[in-house]
Amino acid sequence: MWQDNEHVYGRVSRLLHWSMALLFSWQFFGMAVKIIVGRSPLTAFLVGTHRPVGLLLLVLAALRLLWALYNAGRRPVYAADTTGRLARAGHILLYVLMLLIPALALLRQFGSGKAFSAFGLPITQETGIEIAWMMAPADLLHGPLAWCLLALIVGHAAMALFHHFRLKDGTLARMLGRRLI
Ligand code: HEM
Ligand code: HEM
Repeated sequence: MWQDNEHVYGRVSRLLHWSMALLFSWQFFGMAVKIIVGRSPLTAFLVGTHRPVGLLLLVLAALRLLWALYNAGRRPVYAADTTGRLARAGHILLYVLMLLIPALALLRQFGSGKAFSAFGLPITQETGIEIAWMMAPADLLHGPLAWCLLALIVGHAAMALFHHFRLKDGTLARMLGRRLI
């Protein structure tokens, strides 16, 4: 079952959800090590993967948004009360941040005049010319927005566990691919 239905998210949605959750963990782990440990071979390795993995996350987020829109009419529906509206708003905010955070960083990369390649593909060329307006938004917002995203993810995962262990309503099961009803 590749597509979503009203009971459960399909294989594509689940693969995107859990693989991206892993990649986000990698990004945050790397940046936490950078801040807490400082200069070290592990930090250098993790920081070295940050931009390619971030670019990959941007591509996956765009594909995921398209897939979500394509499946919009047949996904599990939100409850028609305040908690349902909050869950929907939280998921929309996750999408906004998943796209905005790497997009701003990429814009800064283009404005930096420095070379960057990811997975063997040249993404930006060395020009030596810095373009201030392309760099300013990420200089100001990339880090703070990313930490806000982490806080939102922690709240999101906590709610999923609350649904699973307290409410026992099958919310987690539909993202794990088990049809309980
Ligand atoms: C969705 C994917 C991404 C996440 C979750 C993310 C997250 C973060 C975090 C948490 C920091 C540390 C901020 C701090 O020091 O307080 C950071 C820094 C940084 N990121 Fe990302 N990032 C992502 C994508 C990217 C991409 C695509 C690029 C470049 C092409 C990039 C380039 C940088 C750079 C250069 C820094 C250090 C300067 C700064 O703090 O702005 N990131 N990122
Ligand atoms: C341990 C970590 C996580 C758990 C346990 C978890 C659990 C879940 C569950 C149970 C759902 C289904 C909710 C429903 O149908 O109402 C869901 C949906 C969703 N999750 Fe997570 N999640 C985790 C991590 C993440 C991360 C890291 C992100 C993105 C940064 C994310 C973004 C979303 C989004 C946008 C949805 C809505 C469905 C979609 O469009 O994919 N989740 N999550």
